[in-house]
Amino acid sequence: MINKSDVSVRIDQLRADINRHNQSYYQFDSPNIPDADFDDLMQELEALEEKHPEQITPDSPTQRVGSEPISEFQQVTHLMPMLSLNNAFSDEDFSAFDKRLADRLVAGVDIEYMVEPKLDGLAISLIYEGGQLTRAATRGDGQIGEDVTENIKTIGSIPLILRGEGVPSKVEIRGEVFMPLLGFSQLNSTAESLGEKPFANPRNAAAGSLRQLDSKVTASRPLAFYTYGMGVIEGLDAPATQQEAFNLFAQWGLPVCDQVTVVRGVSGCHERYQWLASQRPNLPYEIDGVVYKVNSFSQQDLVGSVSRAPRWAIARKFPAQEKMTTVLSIDVQVGRTGAITPVARLAPVFVGGVTVTNVTLHNESEMQRKDIRVGDTVVVRRAGDVIPEIVAVVMDKRQASFQPFVFPSRCPVCDSPVERVEGEVVARCSAGLFCAAQVKESIKHFASRKAMDIEGLGDKIVEQLVQAELVKTPADLFELTRTDVLTLDRMADKSADKLVLAIANSRETTFAKFLYALGIREVGEVTALSLANHFSDLTALQTATVDDLKLVTDVGPIVAQHIVSFFLLTHNREVVEKLRSLGVYWPAVHQQHRDAEPLFGKVFVLTGTLSTMSRQEAKEALQNKGAKVTSSVSKKTNFLVAGEESGSKLKKALSLGVEVLSEQEFAQLIS
Ligand code: IVH
Repeated sequence: MINKSDVSVRIDQLRADINRHNQSYYQFDSPNIPDADFDDLMQELEALEEKHPEQITPDSPTQRVGSEPISEFQQVTHLMPMLSLNNAFSDEDFSAFDKRLADRLVAGVDIEYMVEPKLDGLAISLIYEGGQLTRAATRGDGQIGEDVTENIKTIGSIPLILRGEGVPSKVEIRGEVFMPLLGFSQLNSTAESLGEKPFANPRNAAAGSLRQLDSKVTASRPLAFYTYGMGVIEGLDAPATQQEAFNLFAQWGLPVCDQVTVVRGVSGCHERYQWLASQRPNLPYEIDGVVYKVNSFSQQDLVGSVSRAPRWAIARKFPAQEKMTTVLSIDVQVGRTGAITPVARLAPVFVGGVTVTNVTLHNESEMQRKDIRVGDTVVVRRAGDVIPEIVAVVMDKRQASFQPFVFPSRCPVCDSPVERVEGEVVARCSAGLFCAAQVKESIKHFASRKAMDIEGLGDKIVEQLVQAELVKTPADLFELTRTDVLTLDRMADKSADKLVLAIANSRETTFAKFLYALGIREVGEVTALSLANHFSDLTALQTATVDDLKLVTDVGPIVAQHIVSFFLLTHNREVVEKLRSLGVYWPAVHQQHRDAEPLFGKVFVLTGTLSTMSRQEAKEALQNKGAKVTSSVSKKTNFLVAGEESGSKLKKALSLGVEVLSEQEFAQLIS
C-alpha cells in the first residue's frame, strides 16, 4: 500500500522531473528523454492527481502547457490561451473520450470528427490585421509566448497578406511550423560536414531554426507551415465547422495539410488512424500521431475546455520509435577490410517493432561527437527499416564514474597498430590477412549467399576453422576433408558430409559472383557485375590498368586503384590461382550487347517485402534485363520497387520525385 506521504513525495519527484524535461525541450530545443517516456511521467502524475485532487497545485505541470519563454525575444500575451492536447494511448482511451463527449452532446449519435495528422513541429500563432501579417508568436506557456514575427516572415509558404474574398478584419491563425524530412537530412549533413552538432530530430531542428536572434539564419533553414486552427476572429462570421475553417484557410492562401478528413464515430476514427499510420513512412514530413477534433464548432463550445486542453480534441500517438536503455559495454569489431568499428551492447529494448541489443557507433569521430560511455542511459531510435541508432546520451543520468571511451591504437584481435589514412574517417588494423579477424571476415564474405553461396558454412563454423588454422585463405576451404570438418565442435558425420559437399558444389559459380567473393575493397555486387560484363575473362581484369578500369560503368579512380592494388599483391594472385586450380569455374561471359537490353542503364532500388519472390530473385531478374540494382535511393535512382511495409526508402523516393512501382507493376515490367 502506498501511503499519503509516499504519494506526495512521488508527486514532487514527478513534477521536478517533468519541469526539468520541459525546460530542455522548450527552452533549449534539445530533449532529455524520448517523448514516450515523458508521456509516461505525465500520465503517472495525472493519475496521482486525479486520485488525490487535494494535491493539485496551480504550478503543477499538468496545469500548464509548455514552459516559460526564454528572455531574448519580446514576450507577447496571447489574445486567447493556446491550449495543448490530451493524449489517448489506446483504443480504450479513445472510446472513453468519445463516450464522454456523446454523453454531453447527443447520446447514441455518432460524433463527426476531423482527423488531422499530428505534425511534429512547434505551435505558432499568426495575427492578421486588415489581411496583413502583423505578429507571429510561439506558444510559450500557453498564455505568454515569444514574438518571432521577423523569423516567421522568412518562411516562404506563410502569406504576408491574406488573399481572396471575405478576409476578416482581424484573425488569429494557428498552426505548426515544422521541417520537412528532406530539408532536415540536408541540414544535418551540412552540419556534420562542418563538424557541427546535428539536430536530434526535425522538431528540434524546426524549433532551433525559428528561435534564432538573427532572422537571416532562420531564412536559410528549410521550414514549412500548416494551418490547423483559429483563435480570435473579427469582422467575419466564424465558420460553423473545422472543415469549413480549413476551406477558408486555403481560400486565403494559407497552407493546409492535404491529409485531413472528416469521419464519423469511433470506427471512422480508427480506420483513419490505421491509414495514416500506414502512410507515415511515405509522408515527406514527420508526424507522431493523429489529432481528432469535434468538427462542429457549436459542439466544441458545448463541451468547452479544461485549463490545459480542450475537451473536444484528443491526440492519439503512434507507437514509440525512440526508447531509453543503458549501455552495458562497448566492444570493438574488426571488419573484413580491417575497419575498426565500436559497437555498443545495450540492455535489450523493444523499439520500432524489434528488440535492439547492439548498435554500431560507426567510427572514432562519431564516438567523440556522441561521447557515449559504458553505463550511460541513451536514447535509441529505430524508424522504418532504418538501422537502429543511438540518438543521444541522457546527460542527466551520466555519473562521474563513467569513463570516456578510448579508441584503440592497436587491433584488439592481432595487436597490430591501427592506421588512419588521411581523409578517411575509418581506422583500420594494418595487418591485412595476417589478422585472424580479417581472415574470418573475408572467409565469411566469400561463403555468403551473394558470393560463392556455400550453404551451411555459417559464421560459427568459419570462426572455428580459422581458429584451428584449418583455413587461412578462401582456397583452403576446397581442400578441407571430412576428417578436418569432424574435428569441429558439435559436428556430426552427416553434417560434415553435407558441408564438404556444399563446398564442392559451390565451385560452379559466375564470374561476377567470384569477383564479388574476393572482397576487393569497394567492389560490391553491382560493380562486380559491371566488371564481369566489361572484362569477360579474369586475365584481362588482372592486367588492367587504372585507366582501363575507369572505362567500366560505376568504376571511379578510387575503386580502380583498389582493384589494381588487390591484384598487385602476390598473396591475392596466389589465392586466385589456387582457387582456379582447385576447380572453381564459371561459364564464359558472352560479349553481350547490353545496351540492347530493355532496362539497360536504369537504376532500381528494391524495398519492403514482395509477395511472389525474394528480393534476391527480383534483383537477378532486373540485372538479367540490364538494369542496375543499388541499395539506397538517390537522385540517380530511376525506379523504386515498393513491396509491403516499405519504409524510409519509399519516403525518400517520394521526396526526390523518383518513380515508384508497385509489386504488380514491377511483375509486369520483368515478365
Ligand atoms: S490543435 C486546442 N492540431 O500538438 C488544440 N495541434 O500536443 C491545440 N499539433 O501544441 C492544438 N499537429 O503544436 C493541433 N493538427 C494539429 C496538430 C497539433 C500538431 C501540435 C501542436 C500542439 C501540440 C499539442
